[in-house]
Amino acid sequence: MKELTPERSSLEPIEIASRDEIMALQLRRMKKTLLNAYENVPFYRSSFDAAGIHPEDLKTLGDLAKFPFTVKSDLRDNYPFGMFAVPRDKVVRIHASSGTTGKPTVVGYTQNDIEMWSQVMARSIRAGGGRAGDIAHVAYGYGLFTGGLGAHYGAEKLGCTVIPISGGMTERQVNLITDFKPDIILVTPSYMLAVLDEFTRQGIDPRSSSMKVGIFGAEPWTNAMREDIEQAFDMHAVDIYGLSEVIGPGVAMECVETKDGLHIWEDHFYPEIINPETLEPVEEGERGELVFTSLTKEAFPIIRYRTRDLTRLLPGSARSMRRMEKITGRTDDLIILRGVNVFPTQIEEQILRVKSLSPHYQIVLERTGPMDAMSVNVETVDNNTTAEQRSGWMKELSAHIKGVVGVSAKISVSEPGSIERSVGKAVRVIDKRNNK
Ligand code: DLL
Repeated sequence: MKELTPERSSLEPIEIASRDEIMALQLRRMKKTLLNAYENVPFYRSSFDAAGIHPEDLKTLGDLAKFPFTVKSDLRDNYPFGMFAVPRDKVVRIHASSGTTGKPTVVGYTQNDIEMWSQVMARSIRAGGGRAGDIAHVAYGYGLFTGGLGAHYGAEKLGCTVIPISGGMTERQVNLITDFKPDIILVTPSYMLAVLDEFTRQGIDPRSSSMKVGIFGAEPWTNAMREDIEQAFDMHAVDIYGLSEVIGPGVAMECVETKDGLHIWEDHFYPEIINPETLEPVEEGERGELVFTSLTKEAFPIIRYRTRDLTRLLPGSARSMRRMEKITGRTDDLIILRGVNVFPTQIEEQILRVKSLSPHYQIVLERTGPMDAMSVNVETVDNNTTAEQRSGWMKELSAHIKGVVGVSAKISVSEPGSIERSVGKAVRVIDKRNNK
């Protein structure tokens, strides 16, 4: 794989500033953000008033813990534009969640917000190994989802040639990768696997592709998956994190030279980790739920937003800003199976240990009588395997899951292509339990 460490001189000064400098900037910006929220968003005014707290009570960064949390239902209750802190005609862009489980959550951006987002995305792509002059193939979905346009503006800002292909039409993705020879691909890791299948189907060696780096996010994926993708394409695979409520992609990004977790762009997004049960901040370095406060957003300031994503904070490494460990999962994705807590990523790790199984998988939960049961559906890498081979891999996977994760799962091993492919975020868990 090509060495892609960016020149230190190409970094923004704040990326390598001292902690004191970063914290001073954060405090200044936090005060301004709290005031903007309090003065311009009725929801924040009443929630701060109800908690008996005022923006002027914030004297230190730690004082933020005295302010109330914001949760997804607060955004839904203020649908569509009630959380905006600027008049609607200052909002130049709207994005929204798909809203499959209720009303969509709507977010808005001023021109300055779009500028800041492009800046943090450009910074992210550079940290991932991208450079001005590179060709960037953007296969995140365009539209109300923030992935496509977020990546697009950031890549343009960095000085890349952008191919705005969006997700889907996998055959054409591979044709254009072959013809346009991109240096970078930005896509969900699960859709990258579908692209990989298509390379194989067309008889093209994926390792011969022009791609040097893949910037993968929008869903959890494991280091085991990273190794698989890096091996298959002979490219770097780096992790990008974000959520629409905070800005979109580009909240945190892994550096290609270290691949040791994601640096949070703390000059714009202030992280906290709380215990999701007690809602108290955890000890430094402990795992819990990630909470974000925006520091510079104008249209949609967000205060102590509970992401439901589980991770822990680590000190800076390749950059001064703190890192978050790769996300283990969301509190919503936690499967509690006969008293054992399981995240889909733990199952993914075990599947990838069995080299003859492909990284496509789906977990099905059912209630049979009083007990919950978990089935794991996987595929073989090769066609034309024998029943005996499949049974061997089934036993191997079952033993790994029992031994490492601690639960019994029914394994079904089928031919390549039998598990539904996603073009965006993969659906890993199908919950057929009747209480859901
Ligand atoms: O997924 C933004 C995004 C687009 C991030 C492209 C990265 C790349 P939402 O649709 O609002 O926004 O979903 C946000 O997706 O709370 C996490 O649960 C999950 N997520 C995003 N990035 C990662 C990641 C976009 N790198 C939700 N690892 C978040 C694990 C991720 N989960």
